[in-house]
Amino acid sequence: MVWNKLRAHHAATADRRFETLLDAARAADFSATAGDMRLDYAKTNIDADARGLLFDLLDQTGVAAKRDAMFTGAPINDTEGRAVLHTALRNLDGGPVLVDGSDVMPAVLDTLDRMADFASAVRDGAYKGQGGKITDVVNIGIGGSDLGPAMAARALAPYHDGPRCHFVSNVDPADIAGVLRHCDPATTLVIVASKTFTTIETMTNARTAQAWMAQSVSDTGAQFAALSTAADKTAAFGIDPARIFGFADWVGGRYSLWGPIGLSLMIAIGPDAFRAFLRGAQAMDVHFRAADWYENLPALLAVVGIWHNQICGYPTRAVLPYDNNLSRLPAYLQQLEMESNGKGVAMDGSDLPVASGPVVWGEPGTNGQHAFYQLIHQGTGVVPCEFLVAARGHEDDLHHQHQLLVANCLAQSEALMRGRSLDEARAKIADKFTGEELDRQARHRVFTGNRPSVTIAYPQLTPFVLGQIIALYEHRVFVEGVVLGLNSYDQWGVELGKELATALQPVVEGSTGAEGKDASTAALVGFLRQNGV
Ligand code: F6P
Repeated sequence: MVWNKLRAHHAATADRRFETLLDAARAADFSATAGDMRLDYAKTNIDADARGLLFDLLDQTGVAAKRDAMFTGAPINDTEGRAVLHTALRNLDGGPVLVDGSDVMPAVLDTLDRMADFASAVRDGAYKGQGGKITDVVNIGIGGSDLGPAMAARALAPYHDGPRCHFVSNVDPADIAGVLRHCDPATTLVIVASKTFTTIETMTNARTAQAWMAQSVSDTGAQFAALSTAADKTAAFGIDPARIFGFADWVGGRYSLWGPIGLSLMIAIGPDAFRAFLRGAQAMDVHFRAADWYENLPALLAVVGIWHNQICGYPTRAVLPYDNNLSRLPAYLQQLEMESNGKGVAMDGSDLPVASGPVVWGEPGTNGQHAFYQLIHQGTGVVPCEFLVAARGHEDDLHHQHQLLVANCLAQSEALMRGRSLDEARAKIADKFTGEELDRQARHRVFTGNRPSVTIAYPQLTPFVLGQIIALYEHRVFVEGVVLGLNSYDQWGVELGKELATALQPVVEGSTGAEGKDASTAALVGFLRQNGV
């Protein structure tokens, strides 16, 4: 069995210092490119044998066939009976994509054109609010209806030439109040983004925005747009059908940025840049379908992830963009990876025989260096790191500062690998201490090293490159999900908390008692009610 062979291989090689494997041949062999993006995984303990076994895992679990099934509209999300076709949303130059025998592309491209017309009208002032040209756009959504556009709008800030864009997600009133405080209702467009149009946080915030706008705008519906699969519900909310942008249920929430859920991004950067973003993702789709495993970036990123989590047992994975505009990428990937693969049941209903995916976390460098890197370098656990870095920023006059950023990124992966021995640490402080004190002090300055990382490098964070990056991670999640044998496209694990919150609301409000609740919850309700909830 391949899993056992991989475990045995890991056990036999775990103590070796992988730095000793590294030469120019390995640097070339354990890296790959897609277009002008480069993935380097040479700074890991994966050798040619481990890689071969990992590829066996891809073959034995049928990744290639399942990949083709996904792209061609088979209902691979089988707990919800749906196809998984977010790739159709960026299939700008591709052929037909059939779902149940009919081509979905005409409707996809028609919606994209409608979005582009509306975005252009908002940007050039042909579409106005009651007070004139739109100055602010507020996207109200949560999860995939927020994280995608919010992450991408920040990532592409240098391309932003439309009205200001704001994102409201949390049901905490502090979120919406903090945004609306800076907007004028007469010149604000509110976009309600919700696949289902039932999500309680989004609908609550949408009604709050409606009431805010009604204070000074007579026809509030005229300054609302909706992005949803639920046409009946959007109409019931009073939004003009001309500003309702629909999509099909085969677009998962956390994969929906490429279609109507990307409207706020499109308004911010313009339809042409948005299309370039789609083309970047499409280029990664083409690469993922065509490249063999040795050259296939999503497959390689997936096998590195499986090696570190399921084989080595490292429970988390840090995503560390040395690209400040990617500051929301870790949060976006938390949903993409953890909502997709954080599952304990296999497709056939049996318990998952291996660990589900890792905890994903991170912050941009260099900020993280002055916060949590201490633990990454000297903590007792190993945190595999994923660095992202651009050759160039967008601030040409500050390029030397960008070079400093790049040097820091490369230094971190080098430091994680090399570490610092006791002898080296001693030599560093030999002028300050002697004898036992030198030893004691030196031990605090030892870095074990031998800590793995991968680096994704690209020329510049353009719309095209951002599209490549996001699609790369989407397909990585797909490959990992297939290998683990689970359904990456449902999210039943979010349901129980939603049901209990609905049941608890009257208890918190005091209209019903806490009978039937556990003693801890009842006591907390009591405390909060005494303190004014
Ligand atoms: O509760 C989880 C979830 O269903 C996510 O999968 C989704 O992205 C988010 O809620 C928002 O859902 P909707 O777009 O339907 O409001």
